Amino acid sequence: MANTILVGAQWGDEGKGKVIDVLTEQADVVVRYAGGNNAGHTVLVGRIKYVLHLVPSGILRRGKLCVIGNGVVVDPVSLVEEIQTLRRLGVRVGENLVVSETAHVVFPYHRELDAQREVLKGKHRIGTTKRGIGPAYGDKAARVGLRVIDLVNPERLEEKLRLRIRENNEVLRALGAKPLSFRRVFDDYRRAGEFLKPFVGNTVILLHEMMQRGKDILFEGAQGTFLDIDHGTYPYVTSSNTTAGGACTGSGVPPHRMDRVVGVMKAYTTRVGEGPLPTEHAEIADMLHAMGREFGATTGRPRRCGWFDAVATHQAAMVNGLDEVAVTNLDGLDTMETIKVCIAYRRGRERFDYVPNDAQVLAECEPVYAEFEGWRTPTSGARRWKDLPAKARAYLRAIAELTGARLSLVSVGPGREQTIFV
Ligand code: GDP
Ligand code: IMO
Ligand code: MG
Repeated sequence: MANTILVGAQWGDEGKGKVIDVLTEQADVVVRYAGGNNAGHTVLVGRIKYVLHLVPSGILRRGKLCVIGNGVVVDPVSLVEEIQTLRRLGVRVGENLVVSETAHVVFPYHRELDAQREVLKGKHRIGTTKRGIGPAYGDKAARVGLRVIDLVNPERLEEKLRLRIRENNEVLRALGAKPLSFRRVFDDYRRAGEFLKPFVGNTVILLHEMMQRGKDILFEGAQGTFLDIDHGTYPYVTSSNTTAGGACTGSGVPPHRMDRVVGVMKAYTTRVGEGPLPTEHAEIADMLHAMGREFGATTGRPRRCGWFDAVATHQAAMVNGLDEVAVTNLDGLDTMETIKVCIAYRRGRERFDYVPNDAQVLAECEPVYAEFEGWRTPTSGARRWKDLPAKARAYLRAIAELTGARLSLVSVGPGREQTIFV
C-alpha cells in the first residue's frame, strides 16, 4: 500500500475511523500522530461498535502494529481505561501497541484549566472537549511538560509533578477553582505509568526499522484540517497540527518517505464546538439528528450540520496535498430532494474562493451554492460504483472535482462492507 497519510478534510468526525479500519487491511503499521483523547473514531465491526480515542483504529485487525506517536498528548489514565475496555471486548492489546516515550502527558490540571478558560471566555468559548488538550500542548511549547518517559519513572514523576502541581494550584486558586491534591494525582499517575510501562518505547527508531523491513505505514489523522492550530479557523481550533505535515513531525518519519495523502470528507459538513461554519443549515441538521445521526463520539454533543463546502475542501486539498479523497456518509443525503454545494463565499460585494483567515470575516460569509438533484434512493446497500444511482455518482464526481483530488473510496454506511472502491 505504501506509506499513506489519512487526514480529515473538514472539521473532524469525517469518518476517519471507518476508513482507517478499511485501509488497515493493506497496512502493516498504523500510527496516530497528533491530538489526544479529544478524538473519537468510531469503527463498526459486525455488531460491535468501538469508539477509539487514543489507540489507533488499526488495533481492531490482527497482526497490525499500532503506534501512538510523539506528536500525541496522552492522558494515561484514560489510555489505561481504553485498553481495558478493548480487552473486555475481546481485542488483543499487547506488543501490538507501542506508545512513544516522548509523547507529552495530560494531567488533571490541564483538564481543569481547559474548563476554567472556557468559562472565562463566556460567549467567545471554543467549545473544547475539556480533555485538557490546549493546556497540555501549551506546556509542551513552554517546555514545562512531562513526557511519557517521565511518567514511567516514579522518582522523576514525583519530583517534576510536585513542582507542576504547585504552580498550577496557584493558577487554579486565582481562578476560584479547587486546587489539586499532589498525593492523589501522583498515586493515579504512578499506577497508570506502571501499567503502561511495557507499552512504552522509542517509536522513531521502531518506525524506521519497520520501513527498512519494507513495511507499509498508515498515518491516522485526528480532528480535521480546519481544526489545525495553523491552518484552521483560529482560535476555534484544537492545539495540534492535524494536517498532513503533522504526520512527519508527530512520528519522526520524514516527508520524502510519504507516498500518498488521503483526505476523508463527508458528503455534507459537520462541526462540533463553536466557530464559523458557513454552510450550516437547520434543515439538514434536523433531518440527520432525527435519524439518530451526528452526535459526538467523545462528548455526545449534537454536531452542527450543513451542506458540502467545496471552498473548504479545495483548500484542504491544497494544504494537505491530497492525492485522493474518500467520501463518507453518502447515505445521509439519500432522502434529499435538492442537494446544495458551496462553491464560493460572498460577504457584501466581496467574493472568496478560499477560506478567509479571520474567523469573524468567515462568520459573516454567505455561501454561494450550486444545486444538484437528489437521487432519493437508499444507497446503503450499494457495494460497487455501478450500484449507485446515476445522480449520486454525478454528485460524487462533482464534489471530488471541486475539491481537486481523485475519488478513491465511497462509504455508504458505518459497516466495513458498506464501502465502495472507485
Ligand atoms: P472520525 O472522528 O472521523 O473517526 O468520525 P466519527 O467516528 O467521530 O464520526 C463518524 C460517524 O459516522 C460514526 O458514527 C461512524 O460510524 C459513522 N459513519 C462513517 N461512515 C459512514 C457512512 O458512510 N454512513 C453512515 N451512515 N455512517 C457512517
Ligand atoms: P476526531 O478525531 C470533531 C473540536 C472541539 C472544539 C475544538 C477544540 O474525532 O475527528 P479541543 O478539546 O481539541 O481543545 O477542542 O476542536 N474537536 C473535534 N471536533 N472531531 C474531533 O476529533 C475533535 N477534536 C477536537 O469540539 O471545537
Ligand atoms: Mg470523531
